[in-house]
Amino acid sequence: MPIPTPSLERRRIVAALPAVSVVVAVPGALALPVSRVARAAQAQSGPAGAEAGARLVASPSQTEGPFYPRDWEGDVDNDLVKVDGEDARALGEVLLLHGRVLDLAGQPIAGATIEIWQCDAQGVYRHPRDERGERRRDAAFQGRGRTISDAAGRYRFRTIRPVPYGGRTPHIHFRVQPRDREMLVTQMYVFGEPRNARDGVLNSIRDPRQRDSVIVRLEPADRLEKDAITGTFDIVLG
Ligand SMILES: [Fe+2]
Repeated sequence: MPIPTPSLERRRIVAALPAVSVVVAVPGALALPVSRVARAAQAQSGPAGAEAGARLVASPSQTEGPFYPRDWEGDVDNDLVKVDGEDARALGEVLLLHGRVLDLAGQPIAGATIEIWQCDAQGVYRHPRDERGERRRDAAFQGRGRTISDAAGRYRFRTIRPVPYGGRTPHIHFRVQPRDREMLVTQMYVFGEPRNARDGVLNSIRDPRQRDSVIVRLEPADRLEKDAITGTFDIVLG
């Protein structure tokens, strides 16, 4: 079953959210939490940063990597922790991930298709190039998911905290396809991960504001789900 993006749920998330999120009034939209991306833009453009004329920091393009899912049949909803037909839930720490798709002026982009994919808690992707020999993936982890941003540009996923694998720091892959703009492929990272400093893909983002914009702070979210964590990742399309 897909998890919804209701405003009441959002209010609870806002209440439980950490200091990294602030609430900004966007004309024509509900007050919503915005990430450090938008805050950085506000710092540069003044307190009216999210209002007309503001320029947010565009989310950087990142490599799609070798494991873009080949299989989008079956259960590909926004709850990656629960797979239809599997009794068990995915191994790993549950991450309630949410954010918005925005344009450079901070206006929401509705109707964008957002896909994510990541390896399971043991570092195996749902992809035939990775699941080989001894490398068996967690069948209870969906591996990839898809949702569509709502009228306020919001999206959410229930997934697991990304883990390191090979030479990579933990990350989640994103592919965002708006209805009438160019597609963006990027990756989301976790604040405080020691491997971030030497991850070649992350550090290929030369602009420090863009690099910061894809590093998300994760916080406990026990009020929403026992032992879960949450984070906000806003995606700004240039
Ligand atoms: Fe990857």
